[in-house]
Amino acid sequence: MCKFSLLRFVLLVPFICSWCFVEPYDIAVKWPTIGIAVLVRNKAHTLPYFLTCLHDLDYPKDRIYLWFHSDYNEDKSDEILTKWVERYESDYNGVQLTTNSSSTGQLQPDQERPHHWSPQHFEHVINLREQALDFIRKLWADYIFMVDADVFLTNRDTLKDLVKKQLPVVAPMLISDGIYSNFWCAMNEYYYYKRTDDYMPILQREQRGCFPVPMVHTAVLADLRRRASDALGYRPPRHAPLDDIIAFALHAQKHDIPLHICNEQLYGFAPVPLEATDDPSSDLEQLVNVKLEAISRHYPLPLDPLLAHYVTYPQPWKYGMSEIYMINLERRRERREMMEQSFKELGMSVKLFKAIDGRKLDMSDLRSPSITLMQGYEDPYHRRPMKAGEVGCFLSHYFIWKEMVANQSEVALVLEDDIHFVPFFRLRFLTLMNEIKDMDWDLVYIGRKILSDADEPYVSEHTTAPYYSYWTLGYVLRLSGAEKLLAARPLDRLLPVDEFLPIMFDKHPNATWKANFLNRNLKALSAAPLLVHPTHYTGQEGYISDTEDSAVVAPGTPSENARNEL
Ligand SMILES: *[C@@H]1O[C@H](CO)[C@@H](O)[C@H](O)[C@H]1NC(C)=O
Ligand SMILES: *[C@@H]1O[C@H](CO)[C@@H](O)[C@H](O)[C@H]1NC(C)=O
Ligand SMILES: *[C@@H]1O[C@H](CO)[C@@H](O)[C@H](O)[C@H]1NC(C)=O
Repeated sequence: MCKFSLLRFVLLVPFICSWCFVEPYDIAVKWPTIGIAVLVRNKAHTLPYFLTCLHDLDYPKDRIYLWFHSDYNEDKSDEILTKWVERYESDYNGVQLTTNSSSTGQLQPDQERPHHWSPQHFEHVINLREQALDFIRKLWADYIFMVDADVFLTNRDTLKDLVKKQLPVVAPMLISDGIYSNFWCAMNEYYYYKRTDDYMPILQREQRGCFPVPMVHTAVLADLRRRASDALGYRPPRHAPLDDIIAFALHAQKHDIPLHICNEQLYGFAPVPLEATDDPSSDLEQLVNVKLEAISRHYPLPLDPLLAHYVTYPQPWKYGMSEIYMINLERRRERREMMEQSFKELGMSVKLFKAIDGRKLDMSDLRSPSITLMQGYEDPYHRRPMKAGEVGCFLSHYFIWKEMVANQSEVALVLEDDIHFVPFFRLRFLTLMNEIKDMDWDLVYIGRKILSDADEPYVSEHTTAPYYSYWTLGYVLRLSGAEKLLAARPLDRLLPVDEFLPIMFDKHPNATWKANFLNRNLKALSAAPLLVHPTHYTGQEGYISDTEDSAVVAPGTPSENARNEL
């Protein structure tokens, strides 16, 4: 190992001081060889993404050997693997795919359902992992990378990056939904997961680096050139539970082989595994969750056309709304496509509403009535007048309210285009709507920025009465609400839409502004917890605001002058 790192250091030297020495021939070291082992069972829904990401990894393929084993399938896993291997086998140093057609549609004798982790199922998995390890050791591969078939390694540098860490056993931290990930920070006396305070800062990447932990799983790279690696294995030591990942961690612990989890980069995603008691449909829900997470952080989610037709989506519908609108600026194509991909995953039928672009706001537009900005309005935070983008944004919402009234639409969901849906969005949204269907309300926020530290009072199990808030990421609006918002004639004294709504439900702190609107009778609720969040928070990588980055409009300017300014 030392020799290896020394060499790599020397290789850098010529770039730093080219006079040090001139290389007479290419002494560059090849990348270490890696045997990648994958067990497959009923993974037709994840394999197309898994294989696409795997093949996209930036690592020399002639230094990779792939070992796949697929059995006990009830789906098209075997077919997908066979097709993929036929197409790409020659790119790799080698590929071994074994399938067992006589196990198709079968369960282990003691299994109650396909996802049941019965003793015999554990036994089977342990045997297969041992076979993989044996096989790859005999290849004399430098590393084994044991990875599950539902991991999406969206970061192409993952393998190179992990190899460069020069650690005996290392795992890339994977994002899931909620607090699940592929490492533990502590193990209890029965060898199971134990929560400690170190966990969240690593998961949320507040602390970044590679951390020694008692458990890594799901995607694990082990350096087989280390002498101690011979002690690694998946068979449980005496008194340990029958569990492959616990066994692996215990062997490492016993032989002082540190396990590391790395989170410097965002490497990829993995769904939360199913518990034995879960019904199979939640497997698909979990997949939707992880795909939405991946889409919002890494768009587009890679998918090889060879496998695209194996991916299925739910039938699109309107989630019980008269209409679902998404407001999107025509020039923000990337966002639109990202959202459309999310809608597809969620089975949401959404009407695209072309946003009024502040940059080319044209008051002579036929739809555009005359606008007067509110006298004395000033952004409470930046202390600046209203921006063209904010005017455009207001108008976009305003025209949706108008369309609702014109069409007499009973209820609509209005979404902006920079949002991320929480896990199990579909279920949670429908539960919420059912819960409040007989209650008296005009508007329900499903995404906003809560400003007040005070706890908002609960109105029902999943709703609160909102205080002053920012943003209009998503809200459900009834016809009654649209009528009230229009009746307030906001275009005569325009201010940003996320100030206007709190005024209308009479929770705005600025009495001067409030006084512009006499009938502040909007009945507002908020989903608690919220169901959509911004994809990028202000200041984060990739954050673009269409309202913050546009030109300032002088307050009180009548529309004719405003147009000239924009
Ligand atoms: C294939 O699966 C069958 C049915 O479960 C099993 O009995 C058999 O041993 C398996 N064959 C191999 C080679 O693993
Ligand atoms: C209301 O906003 C104006 C700026 O538009 C500001 O001058 C005033 O102090 C604010 N009032 C309160 C009570 O915050
Ligand atoms: C609502 O109105 C818009 C424009 O006025 C129209 O394009 C749309 O088809 C209408 N929708 C329904 C459901 O009537």
